[in-house]
Amino acid sequence: MATRVSFPAGFVWGAATSSYQIEGATNEDGRGESIWDRYAKTVANIKDGSNGDVACDHYHRWRQDVALMGSLKLAAYRFSVAWPRVHPTGRSPVNDRGLDFYSRLVDALLERGIAPYVTLYHWDLPQVLQDAGGWVNRDTAHAFVEYAEAVSRRLGDRVKHWITHNEPWCASFVSYAKGVHAPGLRDWSAAIASSHHLLLSHGWAVSVIRRNSPGAEVGITVNLSPAVPASPSPDDADAARHYDGFMNRWFLDPLYRGFYPPDMVLDYVRAGYLAETGMPFVRSGDLRDIAVATDFLGVNYYNRAVTRSDRVPEQKNRPRTVFLAPPSEWTAIGWEVYPQGMFEVLMRVHLGYRPAKIYVTENGASYPDAPDASKRVADTRRIAFMRDHLLAARRAIGEGVPLEGYFAWSLMDNYEWDHGYTQRFGLTWIDYATQERIPKDSAFWYREVIAQNAVEAAQ
Ligand code: FCB
Repeated sequence: MATRVSFPAGFVWGAATSSYQIEGATNEDGRGESIWDRYAKTVANIKDGSNGDVACDHYHRWRQDVALMGSLKLAAYRFSVAWPRVHPTGRSPVNDRGLDFYSRLVDALLERGIAPYVTLYHWDLPQVLQDAGGWVNRDTAHAFVEYAEAVSRRLGDRVKHWITHNEPWCASFVSYAKGVHAPGLRDWSAAIASSHHLLLSHGWAVSVIRRNSPGAEVGITVNLSPAVPASPSPDDADAARHYDGFMNRWFLDPLYRGFYPPDMVLDYVRAGYLAETGMPFVRSGDLRDIAVATDFLGVNYYNRAVTRSDRVPEQKNRPRTVFLAPPSEWTAIGWEVYPQGMFEVLMRVHLGYRPAKIYVTENGASYPDAPDASKRVADTRRIAFMRDHLLAARRAIGEGVPLEGYFAWSLMDNYEWDHGYTQRFGLTWIDYATQERIPKDSAFWYREVIAQNAVEAAQ
């Protein structure tokens, strides 16, 4: 017997994308170069050698894409603005043609009753700002505020939901320390400074957006993973502490409590990433600015981290964490399927940090299921993934978590960063040769979830 699990009235059902991953048209209407244009075109950075020059050609096909959203009955659409379209040179003057594109998009969404949720920074930094140091340079935080000013001044009358940053952990550590995302640096000191300047720019931008967009709600999106030790050994437990500090607390603590986690500062000093003096780039007042009150927290949840320390005695000052997962199910990108983690991160954020409200701003799975001869995409594993994660989210609501919306990642298959076009996260199949959009079974399933405001728990 199927059990129907209903969501609270008014729960916001949406889907998400980001500019570089879908737009293409990287040289049109005065857009400047972004760090992803540069990085993707540097040999060997991207698994299939591809780039976002065309992607889903959304820049030209946006009307069709908005119609698709309408047919899925989406209540909300989360997209990001490409900074280099707005400030091609990194600072003013504004390129009006870039903003015109988003203004038309917002109007088309509103005409269909779809609420725009706008992310200002989903990783496509103007290359000129990177040339000046990127997020390592405090000036980039000032440049971000100017950019937030320009976008919110133009769209603030109609956009009522703003996300300053998407996943500052990726924009700092994955980009400046791990060398996996643009700009591809491997410099931990730079990454730590970057994380601070990203958070600082968030804090500074909030009041600017509020001024230009009266009545709007403003927040930030972080990606969170529960960290669990692979064994009861003290070293593995310490690796879990470290990973939790690295990915979760490093962002949540300053945003909600006004400090960086002391155990992590110590780890970074011991590792030689920070000087004994700590974090000289944190100036007086910064932590107060970062902890500015916001209206919601965006949570992206994909997987958990099962940690094992590979600390070796002669390197004991450099704790490292490697990932294992128990025998379990994996998506095509190699991430473990762990729906319970959705419940865990939501409870943890609610109990530990008390954001006014929460949206799951991304959740989804990569599976390669392709169209059959009748153009049907039977992506049953994606449906199961979304169903189980939604049920876990609903349990958290039952426990008092103020979760008010869910955004599927992604509306359509797109450019998955260093994986290029090899990973398909979409509810909609993209035929990259023809740019045909083919809604997958999961899209029809999601449309039904939205219509019912409920998920069928079992078949
Ligand atoms: C998140 C990103 C998003 C997409 C998904 C799969 O980390 O925010 O752009 O790449 O992962």
